[in-house]
Amino acid sequence: MSKKLTGKVAIVTGGSKGIGASIAEELAEEGASVVVNYSTSEREAELVVQSIERKGGRAIAVRANMTNQQDIDHLFTETEKAFGQLDILINNAGYYEFAPLENITVEHFHKHFDLNVLGLLLACQTAVKHFNPAGGSIVNISSLASKSWAPHATVYSATKAAVDSITKSLGCELGSRKIRVNAINPGIVQTEGTQSSGIIESDLRKKVEARTPLGRIGLPNDITKAAVFFASDDSAWITSETLLISGGFR
Ligand SMILES: NC(=O)c1ccc[n+]([C@@H]2O[C@H](COP(=O)([O-])OP(=O)(O)OC[C@H]3O[C@@H](n4cnc5c(N)ncnc54)[C@H](OP(=O)(O)O)[C@@H]3O)[C@@H](O)[C@H]2O)c1
Repeated sequence: MSKKLTGKVAIVTGGSKGIGASIAEELAEEGASVVVNYSTSEREAELVVQSIERKGGRAIAVRANMTNQQDIDHLFTETEKAFGQLDILINNAGYYEFAPLENITVEHFHKHFDLNVLGLLLACQTAVKHFNPAGGSIVNISSLASKSWAPHATVYSATKAAVDSITKSLGCELGSRKIRVNAINPGIVQTEGTQSSGIIESDLRKKVEARTPLGRIGLPNDITKAAVFFASDDSAWITSETLLISGGFR
């Protein structure tokens, strides 16, 4: 069977764990050469690279803090050096922490907005300089939280509402350059992040599952096929879209 992304090169930000790692593996399965970005988890990123290589794919791991412009430039330069082009950017790196209004601090605000919004914007800006005249595809990993609100998620939800807005706006702006911009909005997905933050063992998870038509929270590979769809020509006439993947929960 022919692969959907043969000859393509993709960057996955935050590709060392969770949803990002799973997307990196799936893009490689579909024939893309993949740059697995991480900020601190070098070992985990190398394991993703090794797993891709074991299956015959091509991948490298590149450290870059996606809140830092120099690091972002380094990520894209290393991508060109290794694979000579760029076709796909998956903006997955993200931060989430829940806090009631009285506990929101300037630091809490910046930790979210600097990565989830500013870092994503800077990555889009840099990717556009590296895409070739044939265009490219940007896939932003947003969240159900952009449109389904819960107490204590004020700042995180605001960042993801911004991601949806950026997706729609940039899709309009970049269409004439054959660059498509779409977002995936997952519900709760079992990852290293949701495990360590306590969400997986929480009452919130039970409440969400009770109201989810498909009866469970997600796994990373519930998200990956949609990322391949938006990255590939299967979605050639789709841009500025957001896709909720949440087992029917909203
Ligand atoms: N899991 C969910 O329930 C869920 C639901 C909706 C949306 N999302 C979104 O999906 C994305 C991934 O979530 P996840 O749960 O898979 O996350 P995760 O398990 O916490 O993993 C986060 C990833 O982001 C990387 N990262 C963190 N800060 C970074 C930085 N400054 N620069 C570069 N990379 C950085 C981490 O690498 P290092 O360890 O090296 O820092 C790691 O690879 C996020 O955007 C999140 O908002 C998640």
